[in-house]
Amino acid sequence: MRRYRDDSAALLGLVEEDRVHRDLYIDPEVFQLEMERLWSRTWIYVGHTSQVPQAGDFITVDIAAKPLILLRQADGSVRVLMNRCAHKGTKLVYDFAGNTGKTLRCPYHAWTYRLDGTLLNIPLKQGYDGTGLRETGLAAVTHEVYRGFVFARLADGPGLREYFGDSLSSIDNLADRSPEGELEITGGCLRYLHNCNWKMFVENLNDTMHPMIAHASSAGTAKKLWEGKPAEMPKPMAIEQYAPFANDYKFFDDMGVRVYPHGHGFSGVNFSIHSAYSSIPEYEQAMQRAYGPERAMQILGTVRHNTVYYPSLTIKGAIQSIRVARPLAADKTVIESWTFRLKGAPAKLLERTVMYNRLINSPMSVVGHDDLHCYRSAQEGLAAEGNEWVSLHRNFRLGERGEMTGNGTSEISMRNQFRAWREFMAP
Ligand code: FES
Ligand SMILES: [Fe+2]
Repeated sequence: MRRYRDDSAALLGLVEEDRVHRDLYIDPEVFQLEMERLWSRTWIYVGHTSQVPQAGDFITVDIAAKPLILLRQADGSVRVLMNRCAHKGTKLVYDFAGNTGKTLRCPYHAWTYRLDGTLLNIPLKQGYDGTGLRETGLAAVTHEVYRGFVFARLADGPGLREYFGDSLSSIDNLADRSPEGELEITGGCLRYLHNCNWKMFVENLNDTMHPMIAHASSAGTAKKLWEGKPAEMPKPMAIEQYAPFANDYKFFDDMGVRVYPHGHGFSGVNFSIHSAYSSIPEYEQAMQRAYGPERAMQILGTVRHNTVYYPSLTIKGAIQSIRVARPLAADKTVIESWTFRLKGAPAKLLERTVMYNRLINSPMSVVGHDDLHCYRSAQEGLAAEGNEWVSLHRNFRLGERGEMTGNGTSEISMRNQFRAWREFMAP
């Protein structure tokens, strides 16, 4: 049945200003159209240049169900290529990451390509003389690099800066937290299969009405454990990271949220759950040496919670980690969690980052699976009859558009994401 493909009014009608229809989360045809439109016309995060430091280094990733390679070139630049042999379609490389050497050789019949994707050699080439074979290489994909973050766009759409606008300030803040201004992916990737629609995850990132409820058993326990301890007692890192999730409504409301055109936004305009982490004096000194006291204070005083680079990338500058949504089906999404080392910063920073990723984002996390339970439960609950709509009403005002700042518990960031959804899903 092609209910939505042939009826764009019905498709776009799934999103209203203050509520959205359940088919956005559960309908396989909507998912397919999202891949073809939203996920192809916008800038999707591929990876970080630090993952491919040497010529021939590659990582592979699927975007909108298309297999891609991010490949370091001999001249030091990076390219994004379709991972598809021009002969019969075999993937040139199969692993998540590796090094191809000086060329890419297909494992099936050894057609060989240069690192830029152009065809170098075909075995027994004379067999094609006089045939209609068109010698093509690997298709190149439009990509852009912003401070080491590589984004690709599969179809026509806005330029990267136009698309992300001032939301790029969160990537700047993350990179600026390195005394050298550079980041390096370190410590591997946690890949966590979520049995839910990708939007449930992306919406949750700035849903600040849930932590004190959904994480009561995990974060609430950490908070209780520490209650009544003398102020001078050094706080274990785990308590420091778990407990703020159990802060009250006022805390999250006062945090503030900001949204930008095209679906991006962050919570933590004024402060965040990361603001009260204990200071690391040698790091602060290194930052002051690198940037001067005033600029260092400005960088470290920007402590955002989650920034969403709609639809694929979510970052936490203050803790140097990112989570990337890789949708597989209407009800299946892989969430990748990566950690960064701040070049020039003491090892304690990376320890804090890796600890956070393990405690909060990993499949073994007592916090992450609170969220996953709620997503799965909503995914199942949406099948119920009697109400086909999902509410986004909290603090809704008619005429919301463009860059706006609101109170932290507003659902403005979700409404903003769905405005972008409508923008890119029109045929
Ligand atoms: S499929 Fe790649 S060489 Fe034949
Ligand atoms: Fe959560």
